[in-house]
Amino acid sequence: MVLKDISDLVLQLEKTVSPLFEKLKKEYGCNNHPGLSLTGYNPFFIGNTKINNPVISAPMAGISDNTYRIFAKYFGSSLLYSEMVTSNGLLYGHKKSIEMTYATEFERPFVLQLFGSKPETVAEAAQMVEDRAEIIDINMGCPVPKVIKTGSGGALLRDEGSIKQIIKIVRKSIKKPLTVKLRLGWDYDLINIEKTAMIAESEGADAIAVHARTVRQGYSGHADYSYLIDLKKKIKIPVIISGDINNPFKAFDLLRDTDCEGIMIGRAARGNPWIFAIILMGIILMDKKVFNEKDADFAKKFEKDIDYFLNNDIKVKILILYLKSLINFMGEEKAVKEFRKILGWAFKGIRNITDIKKDFFEINTFSEAEKVMAGLIGM
Ligand SMILES: Cc1cc2nc3c(=O)[nH]c(=O)nc-3n(C[C@H](O)[C@H](O)[C@H](O)COP(=O)(O)O)c2cc1C
Repeated sequence: MVLKDISDLVLQLEKTVSPLFEKLKKEYGCNNHPGLSLTGYNPFFIGNTKINNPVISAPMAGISDNTYRIFAKYFGSSLLYSEMVTSNGLLYGHKKSIEMTYATEFERPFVLQLFGSKPETVAEAAQMVEDRAEIIDINMGCPVPKVIKTGSGGALLRDEGSIKQIIKIVRKSIKKPLTVKLRLGWDYDLINIEKTAMIAESEGADAIAVHARTVRQGYSGHADYSYLIDLKKKIKIPVIISGDINNPFKAFDLLRDTDCEGIMIGRAARGNPWIFAIILMGIILMDKKVFNEKDADFAKKFEKDIDYFLNNDIKVKILILYLKSLINFMGEEKAVKEFRKILGWAFKGIRNITDIKKDFFEINTFSEAEKVMAGLIGM
């Protein structure tokens, strides 16, 4: 059951997944391996850090842990974010906050995301942990009331002066590239993404990511990309777009229409780490004009092929490795609890397994998980 180390995990993933990619490559004549070994497809730089392709996994509190990042990287994500970490927590030496700042050598380039409201506090925390990451990011979009109450996260979008000060002082305090993650604005009466993006650039940020919703929206409604169409005409630093991106067609359209350097995938990747490979492969194929997004028949065929090749049997094998990795990082008891959620997401919307889904939430050990998952093979 035990994995020796991350190379062992990657080797086992490669054995499980490469037949799938071989089939897709043959079918579509795409010679790039869409996962790990893909380098150099529309790469860009954040400061001095090379980002190998435009497909990026989003930071997600409670989700983007070591295992999540290892799988995202394996399937092609070109940048790996920590969960957001409280600057105060780091300065007070809180164990949980400090633990969140560690990434293995496989999870690179690694972005460590901090949040806080006081420029000096964020700067001190950034200085304390900058050696652990390739890039330091500041969260300026989190809508969670607990965070807003402290004047950090999304609350900063109501206070452009603080945004300016935080970026200015953090920039001076660290040597590593610095990025910020923004939203369109506080609410639809205060859309200020152009302004905040320009402040970020002029104070020395090396890139921005933008979730195309307002803070007040939380996660409701839809991402509205219309405000991002002209953003690249105002700033030169790379822009990464986030919000509701869950297939290669949308990703391709957005990259083309906005001229932005990257797109970010969050919720669609929970329990579905292979989505990075699907999106990356899809956009490469569209770019090479193997098919275009208007060619509905071809696009449907691509989606059907992926569904066919990425059947439950392969998913089960990948997810067992996911559980093994969780166990390596957090021990069996905690890992299995985390894994229940992952299974729920991985098999969401699949109708004929309703009975098995109930069992997902009863799993308490690795062998129970294996037993429940065996029931999914061949379905
Ligand atoms: C459970 C959850 C936790 C999140 N945590 C963070 C976070 O820690 N930092 C951050 O910048 N964004 C966070 N986000 C926002 C995502 O990074 C992303 O911008 C957002 O979910 C929209 O993208 P999506 O539609 O692809 O999920 C979180 C989102 C979710 C759903």
